[in-house]
Amino acid sequence: MNAVVQDRELEAKHRALWALGDYRTIAAEIVAPLGPELVAAAGIKPGDRVLDVAAGTGNAAIPAAAAGASVVASDLCPELLEQGRRLADERGVTLDWNEANAEALPFGDGEFDAVLSCIGVMFAPHHQQSADELVRVCRPGGTIGLISWTPEGFIGQLFATMKPYMPAPPPGVSPPPLWGSEDHVRALLGERVTDITTERRTLTVSRFSDGPAFRDYFKANYGPTITAYRAIGEDPQRVAALDAALAALADDALHGGSTMEWEYLLLVARKR
Ligand SMILES: C[S@@+](CC[C@H](N)C(=O)[O-])C[C@H]1O[C@@H](n2cnc3c(N)ncnc32)[C@H](O)[C@@H]1O
Repeated sequence: MNAVVQDRELEAKHRALWALGDYRTIAAEIVAPLGPELVAAAGIKPGDRVLDVAAGTGNAAIPAAAAGASVVASDLCPELLEQGRRLADERGVTLDWNEANAEALPFGDGEFDAVLSCIGVMFAPHHQQSADELVRVCRPGGTIGLISWTPEGFIGQLFATMKPYMPAPPPGVSPPPLWGSEDHVRALLGERVTDITTERRTLTVSRFSDGPAFRDYFKANYGPTITAYRAIGEDPQRVAALDAALAALADDALHGGSTMEWEYLLLVARKR
């Protein structure tokens, strides 16, 4: 299969994956604090022109618009953008919603004062291509702000646990949590940015009483987890093995209590 056809097929698969389950509920119930945190860390102010890449339902885009910025929320998945549009209406903020692949953004060079991505661009399969696009559409002196799950943190470990059950990615595709590794993301952005700050932080999650509760929620709502189970198909032993592995992962993180800490990397940089 030639590379262009392969990329189109992969894009279609990813678009469908993120429409599975109910990501909007995860955004609202679990990861909601990350968007405003990124907006604050990037110093978004009234009048800024901001792009949120892989914006989903607008976790960063909506608070950026509420801060007075002029915002474009862009994502591969039209279903999530539509849900985001409704959320923004409910909150009384206006922004542009734009269907686009992070690897080929339909914007001009230097169009934005700030380019943000909250646990978003990390899921585009070709890391260097996406990083090049983030840098390209940011104006010189503008801000790039990213939040990415780390490989060592809970969601990084979730992906490692699911990997043996997921369809094998085509060659050239890198694992999402690598964006949460300082060295990797610094190398992706390279000399085109300066004043880089990185900080590992954790999101406190108190939604789950035990491992099976986490597993069942992600099995029902989270596209990548639903995809792993679909890839297994009807094999009861493999389903039971993944069931047990996901519950054990969450039980370990809960330490017998009712809160978990999910580690992520917050990066802020200035384009030269
Ligand atoms: C974990 S969600 C994060 C959404 C949102 N930023 C948030 O904080 O809730 C990952 C998002 O990345 C989007 N995505 C995945 N691959 C993409 C790509 N190649 N280009 C643009 N968006 C992509 C998905 O559609 C999904 O909305």
